[in-house]
Amino acid sequence: MKLTEIPVANFIGGLWQASLSRETFETVDPATEEILAKVPRSDSRDVDAAVKAAHLAFYGEWRELTPAERGRLLYRLAQAIQSYRAELAELETLDNGKPLREALDDFDGVTRTIEYNAGAADKLQGDTIPLGMEVIDFTILEPLGVTAHIVPWNFPLGIAIRSVALALAAGCTVVLKPAEETPLTALRLASIIQEVGFPNGVFNVVTGFGEEAGAALVRHPLVRGVTFTGSAETGRKIMAQAAESLKPLVLELGGKNALIVFEDANLERAVNDAMEAVFGNCGQVCSAASRLLLHTSIYSEFMDRFCERVSQLKIAPGMENGDLGPLVSKEQLERAMNYIRIGQEEGAKLVLGGTRPTHLKRGYFFLPTIFAEVSPFMRIAQEEIFAPVVAVFSFETEVEALQKANEVPYGLTAGVYTQDIRRALTFAQRLETGSVWINGWYLGGVQAPTGGVKASGFGRERGLPGIHNYLQIKNVAIKL
Ligand code: NAI
Ligand code: MG
Repeated sequence: MKLTEIPVANFIGGLWQASLSRETFETVDPATEEILAKVPRSDSRDVDAAVKAAHLAFYGEWRELTPAERGRLLYRLAQAIQSYRAELAELETLDNGKPLREALDDFDGVTRTIEYNAGAADKLQGDTIPLGMEVIDFTILEPLGVTAHIVPWNFPLGIAIRSVALALAAGCTVVLKPAEETPLTALRLASIIQEVGFPNGVFNVVTGFGEEAGAALVRHPLVRGVTFTGSAETGRKIMAQAAESLKPLVLELGGKNALIVFEDANLERAVNDAMEAVFGNCGQVCSAASRLLLHTSIYSEFMDRFCERVSQLKIAPGMENGDLGPLVSKEQLERAMNYIRIGQEEGAKLVLGGTRPTHLKRGYFFLPTIFAEVSPFMRIAQEEIFAPVVAVFSFETEVEALQKANEVPYGLTAGVYTQDIRRALTFAQRLETGSVWINGWYLGGVQAPTGGVKASGFGRERGLPGIHNYLQIKNVAIKL
């Protein structure tokens, strides 16, 4: 499909619609700074139409389908996504900037997520509760109703599907608001969902800005649940908006994740994994390693190997499939540059990078950056930068490593590299994060729940716990 054929309208109740105000906004290619398309700038009236369409669909044909039929539709969607994988990946690369290879991986993940939830749709069941001979008591798992999904730009369709597929498997209907930076694959998804044969109104997309369309969606009284991935700052606002009508929330709010390397680690593997953990998706990953904690005895050797590898990374437009594409937007580029200034003012040592590459005149490109001699209470050690920037620390003892790993506001992921089983499991118990990885990074799959503690949010996505975000328990008691 050519770019000019991508639908650039809201998808509401099975129809493509301009915003009622007729206003639009531009989405740009971060590699060239050129405009890719103009999409609707939706306001509360467009959101209201989408939520009402989803509400109507929930009480219509959708609720009458059996769970197996819902699963079958999802399975067909997974197959359609695989068949459009190359086209979808190109579109994601143009809109987000990531190397095409990474976008293709994203769509394999999207397919797997839908397949898993297709299979789960008819396996969601309640309990019977023994209350003695005079009463029969059982639970029914019911879908919440209309759910709102507000997603960021780093994995535009990956993160959208990570909650949308679960809500659909549970029997909810959906209104998705993609990030303003990357609306295109969500719109293309809508056309695929239509083609696959989902009833009208089950899945709706409205494009627009967070404060306008996003806030109206969270506040809408007919929305029964909200899932949000993005910044902690916006998460706080969404929680306050949702409080007005007491909606349940799933919040995934980023991290400041530590990759910890002990003296007995397989250093080759640790360096190799760190490359992906720090610089994958240009560092714009909530579960990226943005802090490296290195034992003093291997510090020099690790850093020599790591810096050597980092200096060889190829920075290029996503379509040229280098190692790093551009950052997603001018705002994110400015944010990264601001943190470089802060880190230098705080006295950290800039070992590599810290600027834009000189060979690329246009686009929001930024060099892979390493700060060493970072101390734990510097801002670059505490705050999420969301760029290819890593802060490196050294430690002497297990106690010191644990303390440094935990003393940040966030708690999403952590990784420990060691051959000592006692040490690995001690860290698994004591790290304050939603996920702990041992001798690897980005371990786990669509079956394994992920999410945060502390400022990284609450609620778990993926796996069966993820689907239960979209179900409520009804208890039925019968007196005999
Ligand atoms: P953001 O959290 O403001 O935006 C994410 C989504 O929330 C977008 O769809 C946006 O339209 C929506 N939104 C914004 N304000 C809203 C509001 N008041 N009500 C409802 N929806 C709203 O993130 P932004 O500004 O794009 O990036 C800033 C920083 O956030 C990044 O540098 C990074 O640190 C963090 N971030 C974390 C992500 C993660 O995966 N956890 C993803 C994207 C950003
Ligand atoms: Mg924002």
